[in-house]
Amino acid sequence: MQNLLVTGGAGFIGSNFVRYMLAHEPEIFIVNLDVLTYAGTTENLKDLPDPARHVFVEGNITDRALIDTLLHKYQIDTIAHFAAETHVDRSLHFPELFLETNVVGTHTLLAAARQYWIIEGAFPLDQVRFHHVSTDEVFGSLAPTDPAFNENTPYDPRSPYSASKAASDHFVRAYFHTYKLPISITNCSNNYGPYQFPEKLIPVMIANAVEGKPLPVYGDGMQIRDWLYVDDHSEAIRRVIRGGTPGETYTVGGDNQPPNIEVIQTLCHILDELRPHAPHAPHEGLITYVKDRPGHDRRYDIDISKIKTELGWHPTESLATGLLKTVQWYLNNTEWIDAIRANPEYRAWMERNYAKR
Ligand code: NAD
Ligand code: DAU
Repeated sequence: MQNLLVTGGAGFIGSNFVRYMLAHEPEIFIVNLDVLTYAGTTENLKDLPDPARHVFVEGNITDRALIDTLLHKYQIDTIAHFAAETHVDRSLHFPELFLETNVVGTHTLLAAARQYWIIEGAFPLDQVRFHHVSTDEVFGSLAPTDPAFNENTPYDPRSPYSASKAASDHFVRAYFHTYKLPISITNCSNNYGPYQFPEKLIPVMIANAVEGKPLPVYGDGMQIRDWLYVDDHSEAIRRVIRGGTPGETYTVGGDNQPPNIEVIQTLCHILDELRPHAPHAPHEGLITYVKDRPGHDRRYDIDISKIKTELGWHPTESLATGLLKTVQWYLNNTEWIDAIRANPEYRAWMERNYAKR
């Protein structure tokens, strides 16, 4: 891994991954391709270590000519593909966009990588890797006694978002079987940490609590997610790219599954401790139950034995320490979040998403 193309590297996980790789891989050069949708901003890349080893390119993963140019110009030997439409609530309103970016975009990258690495033979195939960053949501929803998702769990996507990610996973695997493109896939659970866009559960709750706004809990709040601190995810991807077997999938998770309401209560307690004199303390008083998300998956759980045994990876951050770090980051970066929350497009979307609840 010398010249790494990261797609979606101005978003939440992608920007944390770029930062992590620059800090942990002294030899690599990163080309960061991102079209800067509402979810991406170069503000997320302000504090990169060793920025001379990083170049940002504004562009779309569906632009085949641009991808071809970047692969040749920077002699890309590794692709870490993060770019996607990622918010389940938005996918309920704009499914076509998810199809275009997540399926067509992924296929465009696969076809370009095949052309450069296999048809043109740019590198020996044991020196290249297409890594696809995917989600545990492709496996559907678990009943209370079902076993955790693992690499053999059948796909059962239930939202337009998870359907589009499932389709892209299938294309990635098809390129391995059909064209021998060296690929790997990680199916990961819910991430949290710095720079997460304030439409996802944890940053919405922190930002609303700070402003004294209601904390909207979907349904009964007893849905279960597995939570992983974003740097742990970056390390998992790094290990899979470095040592994972081509053609293989790895399920990745944080080894903890609290119901949503417990996560929200923990955030409230952390804020009570950090801001005891806030006018809204105790923050739990802001919790408001609202109408559920249509088709809301009830429970996710992840079996991480394969990545643990094969690659020695395990999560290092507990939910308690990870949430504390995350709340502190948001409290220390009010300019970042205030700029997003002042954006009229963001406000219109949030109003629309929560209006009918
Ligand atoms: P995000 O929404 O914060 O960022 C997505 C980034 O992709 C943005 O910077 C956006 O501008 C960019 N992008 C979108 N469409 C693009 C296009 N057509 N061309 C180029 N760039 C484009 O997403 P995230 O939460 O950081 O997720 C990153 C990846 O990880 C996604 O593939 C997602 O499915 C996967 N994932 C996310 C989670 C999670 O909890 N957030 C968990 C598992 C897997
Ligand atoms: O599991 C991995 C997936 O996690 C990723 O693939 C997705 O890209 C990512 O968005 C995330 O999906 P979720 O739908 O689980 O994340 P979200 O933060 O939207 O919601 C987490 C849980 O909290 C879910 O059960 C819905 C609930 N929720 C969410 C919001 C935004 C609320 O109760 N209130 C809210 O305001």
